[in-house]
Amino acid sequence: MDKIKIRGGNQLNGKIYISGAKNAALPLITASLLTGEKVRLSNMPILSDIRSLNKLLIELGTEIEETEETKGGYTSKTYTYQTKEFKSLIAPYDYVRKMRASYYVLGPILARVGHVELSLPGGCAIGARPMDIHLNSLEAMGATIEIKNGYVIADAKKGLKGAHIIFPKASVGATCNILMAATLAKGETLIENAAQEPEIADLIDLLVKMGAKIEGKNTSQLKIEGVKELHGAEHSVLPDRIEAGSYAIAAAITKGRIELINAVAEHLKTPLNILRNMDIKITEKANSIVVDARNADMSGQDIMTDYYPGFPTDLQAQFMALMTVVPGASMVTENIWENRFMHVPELMRMGANINVHGHASAIVRGVKKLSGAPVMATDLRASFALVLAGLVADGETIVNRVYHLDRGYERLEEKLRGVGADIERIKEDDF
Ligand code: UD1
Repeated sequence: MDKIKIRGGNQLNGKIYISGAKNAALPLITASLLTGEKVRLSNMPILSDIRSLNKLLIELGTEIEETEETKGGYTSKTYTYQTKEFKSLIAPYDYVRKMRASYYVLGPILARVGHVELSLPGGCAIGARPMDIHLNSLEAMGATIEIKNGYVIADAKKGLKGAHIIFPKASVGATCNILMAATLAKGETLIENAAQEPEIADLIDLLVKMGAKIEGKNTSQLKIEGVKELHGAEHSVLPDRIEAGSYAIAAAITKGRIELINAVAEHLKTPLNILRNMDIKITEKANSIVVDARNADMSGQDIMTDYYPGFPTDLQAQFMALMTVVPGASMVTENIWENRFMHVPELMRMGANINVHGHASAIVRGVKKLSGAPVMATDLRASFALVLAGLVADGETIVNRVYHLDRGYERLEEKLRGVGADIERIKEDDF
């Protein structure tokens, strides 16, 4: 398995191009299953999670064309998806195990052909990750759901019908799945307490281009009037707010200045406000955000993760890495996932002073210096937190299990080297 080697101490300065958002791209890909026509998605990030979902779609019968585009010095992929008919209606264990978001095939396939079998994703490093909201909502729309041999078997032979659904939690995944299912259901579906993450607005934009009738974008109440069929469309994936936030923290932790090209400040209001509170200069430009921490007199801050527009759980680990070297105490509270402090013991191995209280809170007391160490993380964002710690630690840090980073950070070493980091990938063969 590849590793990342970092020599800490360099101040980062320059520009980083922000890629298309992984968490937007995944439901956009499965939305293509709602039609037999072509759906063309541009500004797609080059990531292993996208490749994994593409493989599953090919297994189901989708034809995929791939091209590369370079705009303003930045290369992205364009994929065209077409599923004239399904070769299989089963999403097998091996695919879902590798990539939980494979569950996004559930709503679209059930809505289009009335039957789908999906391996249950099970737990993962950050918590139990249940699917009850997805399944209960599909049942409310007239589907029968059976759990057998580790699979969800969903049936709606006579088609789905509109329903009034109130989500007990504003789940991102359930909002996407039920939105997609409702576009082809008979009659009107009303989703209350829907998630409002920008990735959902991006999905709504594509669905509307495909002919769906949806009201309530960017609100917690979505009204979908089912249509008989959807058609092909073209869409450019929105920029990744979590990647942008992660590199904003890289500027902060190295006391540097990074311009995040293509980043959307509107999508990062809460984390950017925390950085502003830390005396970091944030300039919002038409097509970029400049994060300038060169003269910042930083101090500890409390953060509490929440549903959008609250502080994103997917930036919690990275912020904690920053707090480990900022003077004063910071309280970090995780409200979304039950087990998302797996990075704490690794940061402590690098000299961080962190006290975890129960499952949800941690007090971080800033130390003068971290020191490099071999570390590993159990999830994607936690792995980036260790990269951030490595960027300021004395000496060498080796981050193991790089496959986590490859799932969600496109060309990470290239982007960080471009702003002055001393970072390289060590191929397994080199060891
Ligand atoms: C998505 C993101 C993930 C992010 C999370 C929260 C993708 C591919 N992943 O995950 O990076 O951390 O949103 O912003 O976009 N829940 C239930 N029952 C359900 C579904 C969810 O109880 O049926 C709970 C979960 O346990 C969790 C909360 O709802 O506590 C939020 O989960 P959800 O928004 O569904 O997360 P994902 O869509 O899986």
